[in-house]
Amino acid sequence: MTRLFAGLFFLLISFCGIAVGARDIVSDALRLPSEASRFFRPGKFNDDNTDDDATGTRWAILLAGSNGYWNYRHQADVCHAYQLLRKGGLKDENIIVFMYDDIAYNSENPRPGVIINSPQGEDVYAGVPKDYTGADVTVGNFFAAILGNKTAITGGSGKVVDSGPNDHIFIYYTDHGGPGVLGMPTNPYLYADDLIDVLKKKHASGTYKSLVFYLEACESGSIFEGLLPQGLNIYATTASNAEESSWGTYCPGEYPSPPPEYETCLGDLYSVAWMEDSDMHNLRTETLHQQYELVKRRTSEENSAFGSHVMQYGDAGLSKDDLFLYMGTNPANENFTFVEENSLRPRSKAVNQRDADLVHFWAKYRKAPEGSSRKVEAQKQFVEAMSHRMHIDHSIKLIGKLLFGIEKAPEVLNTVRPAGQPLVDDWVCLKTLVRTFETHCGSISQYGMKHMRSLANLCNAGIVKEQMAEASAQACVSIPSGSWSSLHKGFSA
Ligand SMILES: *[C@@H]1O[C@H](CO)[C@@H](O)[C@H](O)[C@H]1NC(C)=O
Ligand SMILES: *[C@@H]1O[C@H](CO)[C@@H](O)[C@H](O)[C@H]1NC(C)=O
Repeated sequence: MTRLFAGLFFLLISFCGIAVGARDIVSDALRLPSEASRFFRPGKFNDDNTDDDATGTRWAILLAGSNGYWNYRHQADVCHAYQLLRKGGLKDENIIVFMYDDIAYNSENPRPGVIINSPQGEDVYAGVPKDYTGADVTVGNFFAAILGNKTAITGGSGKVVDSGPNDHIFIYYTDHGGPGVLGMPTNPYLYADDLIDVLKKKHASGTYKSLVFYLEACESGSIFEGLLPQGLNIYATTASNAEESSWGTYCPGEYPSPPPEYETCLGDLYSVAWMEDSDMHNLRTETLHQQYELVKRRTSEENSAFGSHVMQYGDAGLSKDDLFLYMGTNPANENFTFVEENSLRPRSKAVNQRDADLVHFWAKYRKAPEGSSRKVEAQKQFVEAMSHRMHIDHSIKLIGKLLFGIEKAPEVLNTVRPAGQPLVDDWVCLKTLVRTFETHCGSISQYGMKHMRSLANLCNAGIVKEQMAEASAQACVSIPSGSWSSLHKGFSA
């Protein structure tokens, strides 16, 4: 049984590796518009922000979009970001934290009350404000916090970005995602067009000078690609381009690996790249652009399938700003000036975001004593996760065939629009088709977000709700049950 189980696991992992490798080749050939800004020279001596504490307040929103111990790393990232900003001098009243908060005291956590974000890392959990936890980590609250709209908040601390025209805002989000969507630990998930609308609204309200958005998720480029206009004074970087996975790091069995008692990944590749860089330096001497270049190199392991292409979007001109303007700087780093070449830490190996849950179940299974209930539980979790994946993959494929025929379906489902174009033109259609799919086939869930491009392509090909309903009903005669399964969560509120 063990051997069969291991075989299944490695088959799966290598399949993901190959799939991502193929996409890497495709995206290497594409020249995305945001790439143009790579030729942009960072302004070393811009004089307007060398010492500007008087000119505005720094605000930050930090959001971990997942829950569950197998997603340890997202909340670890967010806690780490909080500590970094606090050391940089931001005040609690200006940092708004969204995290489910089920990690520190999770029964799986080998160090109760402690969260670490790297193998030798210190605790990053202590002191983190619990502004929005559990069921209050919602899309609605996230948007209301950005907009500074207290009346639209439900639950939580009520803290919002109550910013003025001279203020600087930093938003950092880390989780699972898919083309055009970001996960949340609650329903519904977040759609890119809604986020862009909120950012436009915030801009129209004249309540910031500039806004920086760091985003870690699979296919995170798709949140801004062809959607985030210039001129909003927003600069965004993403962990991956619009069509590839992002990566967990410090995972069991990788190097460097977490302490042996941890059966989960401790961080995410792009996230720890920017944070470990910001942790070390005098941020008055490092620009956003310099950090982008560094994070890009660290995240994209050359000649390897284990990595992604860090992208930038929006007003690239803002990237000549010093990080100090958004993150402050730790006085203890005063003498650690950013120097291009010595800043790269040796790259660690990484695990595809979408496989990190399986890595957890596998590590748990492997280490549990033979015949223990823990071993049985881990195996059950693994098998349920796998059967959910197969159900979702199979359903989408079958729906494609029912709608377009065996020959044409793969072409429709797998089409990737040219760079610079959004995923879909009609977002209402996309949301409708997702709801229709979920009605018949169960929730798309964290894993199923990978199929958002296929669903978007159905809209782009003119499929309407009634056709989708008929195909979904035929494709999904039954939905696998189990705590992990499709019934667990998804978009349908
Ligand atoms: C704030 O949210 C409330 C409730 O959703 C809404 O009615 C109101 O228009 C919003 N205010 C602003 C300024 O957007
Ligand atoms: C930085 O260097 C200066 C000059 O050597 C020294 O006076 C200062 O204490 C150092 N700062 C820190 C934080 O170590």
